[in-house]
Amino acid sequence: MNDLKVSNDTSAYEVPAALDAQGRLTGACVRQALTMMDTHGLVILTDLLSDAEADIGLELIRQTIANPDRSQCSFASETDNRYVRRDFCSLPSTPAVTRFAATMCQRLEDVISEYCGRSRPLLEVATFTSYLGSSHQYIHRDPSGVISLFAAVEDVSDEQGGTVFVPGTHAYGGSDNAHGGQASALMELFRTQCNWRILVHNLKKLWSMRRDDATPLAPGEFWDRLFSRKWDQHQPNLLRFMLGKNSQFSLRNLGPRMLWKLYRHRKALSELFPLVQTAPRKGSVILYRSDLLHAGPDNRSPVPRQIFGMSIARDIIDTKYWHDGYSPHPSLMAQPLSFGDLLDHPALPATSSVLNHRLSA
Ligand SMILES: [Fe+2]
Repeated sequence: MNDLKVSNDTSAYEVPAALDAQGRLTGACVRQALTMMDTHGLVILTDLLSDAEADIGLELIRQTIANPDRSQCSFASETDNRYVRRDFCSLPSTPAVTRFAATMCQRLEDVISEYCGRSRPLLEVATFTSYLGSSHQYIHRDPSGVISLFAAVEDVSDEQGGTVFVPGTHAYGGSDNAHGGQASALMELFRTQCNWRILVHNLKKLWSMRRDDATPLAPGEFWDRLFSRKWDQHQPNLLRFMLGKNSQFSLRNLGPRMLWKLYRHRKALSELFPLVQTAPRKGSVILYRSDLLHAGPDNRSPVPRQIFGMSIARDIIDTKYWHDGYSPHPSLMAQPLSFGDLLDHPALPATSSVLNHRLSA
């Protein structure tokens, strides 16, 4: 996006995955990954999955999306879902899906277990697909107390809209003391500044789509995305922004006092909070603390962007809070799974490139 300064250099947050004889990350790898999770709030483990394993994940996603009775997620942009700009849906707890999820958990056990005990619930297994014409999500935090994972089952290009993160904005004991005790206030200012720019971007994009043959608008889509009264956090929905009904951003808060603060702190905001867009290669897995500031950008390419995701709680969790922020498949709600269940579940058989990993480790 033109108005946001976003870096595409993620090298400072990457750890090449090396596996031991049991197929788990080596001790050195785990230490590096934990340092990144604690310092930046995320880590990108490159080549955690072999090409063959990523293909299995992609096939599970394709099967789910092809199912007309799939279970679509309610937490993100319902309007984008309705007009097939996005397709966010949960995956059923079939043996194949659980085996794929279990493989990643077992490989990452020593990293995830630093945050999540064996009894902690698997909150969701889902897939997030974005198509050309989707809106750019606003910078937000997911519900706190969760470790989330995105697995790239194919290469994701910058244009396809890999997730944007703001490293270092996660919360922990005493994190408010940073930046002269102003960390929280400055982060909220930064979020306001970003989200105003994203709103303008989304409005401009929707306006240009009226005459763009590549992204023809469906009947009613233009007005629905601008003035729908339906719950939706990630549209250029002016009505909800004006009414203060969007928790991510409100035009009502953008008064003279806020504008003065944004002007006064403009240098600190640009220096303290880097925006980094990921473009994970096939087989890479991103782990992040759920309260890290992030957003899913719009897909600006004709190639759909597909990502496999799952989330595990770090603590006990209230059911309403869980279902407000995550979309567990009905089969997962009927038969809950914990982190320990995934560690004990059969994993995918080791493929040749995984064996190569082990040998090199
Ligand atoms: Fe999110």
